[in-house]
Amino acid sequence: MHDIDGDGEFDLKDVAKQLKANKHNEWAPLEKNGDFRSPECVELLKKSDIVITNPPFSLFREYVKQLFDYDKKFLIIGNINCLTYREIFQKVKKNKAWLGNGMGRWISGFIVPKSYELYGSEARIDKNGDRIVATNNCLWLTNLDHGRRHQPLPLMTMAENLKYSKHKEIKDKKEYPKYDNYDAIEVPFTDAIPSDYKGVMGVPITFLDKYNPEQFEIIDINPHFFTIVEKGLPKPPQLKIAGRNDPYARILIKKSRKII
Ligand SMILES: C[S@@+](CC[C@H](N)C(=O)[O-])C[C@H]1O[C@@H](n2cnc3c(N)ncnc32)[C@H](O)[C@@H]1O
Repeated sequence: MHDIDGDGEFDLKDVAKQLKANKHNEWAPLEKNGDFRSPECVELLKKSDIVITNPPFSLFREYVKQLFDYDKKFLIIGNINCLTYREIFQKVKKNKAWLGNGMGRWISGFIVPKSYELYGSEARIDKNGDRIVATNNCLWLTNLDHGRRHQPLPLMTMAENLKYSKHKEIKDKKEYPKYDNYDAIEVPFTDAIPSDYKGVMGVPITFLDKYNPEQFEIIDINPHFFTIVEKGLPKPPQLKIAGRNDPYARILIKKSRKII
């Protein structure tokens, strides 16, 4: 899509023009304000097979709930933080929703003028020579299956990681640190997950981009510990390791019982 009508703006008029160009498409403006909860939009939702959109982040939970209530297939853009919302995390934990292919700068971007200086890992020049600046905190949330989530993440054993890891936090250490207040090891990088560890591991939230449900099982998410609270147990404090700053939010995972 681009500025099809050449009025200097890329907007819904361009989208309409492109849709109308194909005589098989039906196109009509909405009668009301287009709120996704309005009866008019719900009727359209019911008729749809797959919903692809970028919903308002402030209404994300409500939007996702509606998609599930109407049993829809979807591919939507969310903010990485949405994974820490109870409603969304539970769907991911239960394999009712997962991440699509690519996150962060690989799924969104703005074309910027030639005069705009590109700097940092989020800026790039694409195959058309366009200069792209991307936000790094978006992801696709979907319930459409795709091959990537069935590919096992290639990992080294714990002994191999401690000997060869490219991360100074792991290489040449005696062991992976354990949390003082939770029976799990701290794994600060997804590519440093030890393939042979049978217990629970705290890994970065971005692990979910590589999550293969045949390889790993999701136990919980810190600092919310949804599962623990749902079992009626008191919410534990933030994960702690003596002498260190609290780790970032962690997903608690363990090797799947289905060995692959
Ligand atoms: C994250 S933005 C996505 C914008 C869109 N991708 C675009 O490029 O124009 C979310 C959009 O949802 C719209 N929005 C906010 N509340 C809404 C609601 N209750 N129902 C439907 N749309 C809503 C906002 O106006 C905004 O355009």
